[in-house]
Amino acid sequence: MTAVKSLAVLVLASVVLATHALIFKDCGSVYGKVRSVAVSGCETSNTCILKSGSSANFTVVFTSLEDTDTTKASVHGIIAGIPMPFPLPQSDACQNSGLVCPLSNGQNYTYTASIPISPAYPKIKVLVKWELQEVHGKDLFCIEIPAAIL
Ligand SMILES: *[C@@H]1O[C@H](CO)[C@@H](O)[C@H](O)[C@H]1NC(C)=O
Ligand SMILES: *[C@@H]1O[C@H](CO)[C@@H](O)[C@H](O)[C@H]1NC(C)=O
Repeated sequence: MTAVKSLAVLVLASVVLATHALIFKDCGSVYGKVRSVAVSGCETSNTCILKSGSSANFTVVFTSLEDTDTTKASVHGIIAGIPMPFPLPQSDACQNSGLVCPLSNGQNYTYTASIPISPAYPKIKVLVKWELQEVHGKDLFCIEIPAAIL
């Protein structure tokens, strides 16, 4: 490969990386495997910008590792190590979130949810912890995403 070609490959690779900047941490997905996570507002930054007064959209593709009749979403904002609940308009994730319940072991699912960012929230950095729980309250997935409310 010529130097010019390798430079082109490098530039292309960094463009691809820059458009997929979302960093997330798996915080204990027990009965599922996370395949991909996308959040609106982090297309250009490693910290997801949650705009005050708007809705942030989350998409998680995961494989369920068990059969479950119900799924429940739970979202917390971790501020200085302390988890505060983020009220969700719809915590029953079998409704209006792209999942068709019951979920089956080994199947891939795309979960989508929108969370209102209240203008009353403080404009600070927050670690968003998003859990989807199965019928016994164990996590199908648990992800943490660095974010900032602006
Ligand atoms: C989230 O989705 C809603 C509905 O599709 C859209 O109106 C809104 O602009 C989206 N939010 C962001 C931050 O992209
Ligand atoms: C689920 O997605 C993973 C990763 O994209 C893929 O390897 C696997 O074959 C898919 N499984 C099914 C049952 O579609």
